[in-house]
Amino acid sequence: MSVSQLHPDGRLQHLLTLDGLSTGIMEELLDSAEALRPHAHGGTVFRNVLAGRTLCTLFFETSTRTRSSFQLAAIRLGADTLVFDVSSSSTSKGESPLDTMRTLEAMGVDAFVVRHARDGAVAELAAGARPDTVFINAGDGRSNHPTQGLLDMLTLRQRKGTDFSKLRVLICGDVLHSRVARSDLHALRALGTGEIRVCGPTNLLPDASLLAGCRVGQDFDAALDGVDAVIMLRLQRERMEQGLVPSLEGYFHEFGLTPERLRRARPDAVVMHPGPMNRGVEIADAVADGPQSVIFDQVGNGLPVRMAVLRTLLASG
Ligand code: CP
Repeated sequence: MSVSQLHPDGRLQHLLTLDGLSTGIMEELLDSAEALRPHAHGGTVFRNVLAGRTLCTLFFETSTRTRSSFQLAAIRLGADTLVFDVSSSSTSKGESPLDTMRTLEAMGVDAFVVRHARDGAVAELAAGARPDTVFINAGDGRSNHPTQGLLDMLTLRQRKGTDFSKLRVLICGDVLHSRVARSDLHALRALGTGEIRVCGPTNLLPDASLLAGCRVGQDFDAALDGVDAVIMLRLQRERMEQGLVPSLEGYFHEFGLTPERLRRARPDAVVMHPGPMNRGVEIADAVADGPQSVIFDQVGNGLPVRMAVLRTLLASG
């Protein structure tokens, strides 16, 4: 069963992936998020936008940033919110994600924000739902994290302007297992980024097809030369147990972003990280907390981006 994230008339019905999403829709969402930003962290101006609508956060994997900011975004827009706690639910009795979703749908949930460890799981739930129920992918497997991609682009636009054609952006780390990297790559391409560089250990890089058009390498120092932005990825610690990384110290030595290394980038380069960070593994404290870090701006931008997505998908008129 497959499902399209677009209505037949081209409007968004779900947000499942940034892969193939038009530049126009992406820019509209980013413009909408920028306009909502002054109202994202408080106030009541938009409290009627989703009045009477019900949103459920259905997370089968842990989350701090994505779940909390979707919940706050829904509250700022006046929706009723239901936080589904998987750990205390009947999923432990064997209820499937599909039956769980249908059960909540039967209670009047209009929209689900879903995170699941399996690639394609969110699209499968959307395909099994009523035609007018809305789905937003909050991360599936290693495939997609579309709102993270959008908030990363909003953060870049705020620091570097809306014309990406002259930007050099580097993504570094465990690209192979990263849904953030995939969504960022789709978004950077759609927005016409001048040069996209990708760097990481050979065994943590994906198929060449995913990296088409990117400058790919294993030398982090060389990759940093003259970049406008560097997006560091979390090294999932289980990669060491799987033998993909010899040691965390060795990884930091080769691929950790330190103040000395960052000097190779442009002086006004920004440092990004989707969080949660492994300090001392992929990023040094002095960089994470330094003047070029926009990591907590990214977190803050999660709110207006998610408000924009919810308003686009759920507001009538
Ligand atoms: N960036 C991100 O998805 O963070 P969480 O896992 O905390 O939601």
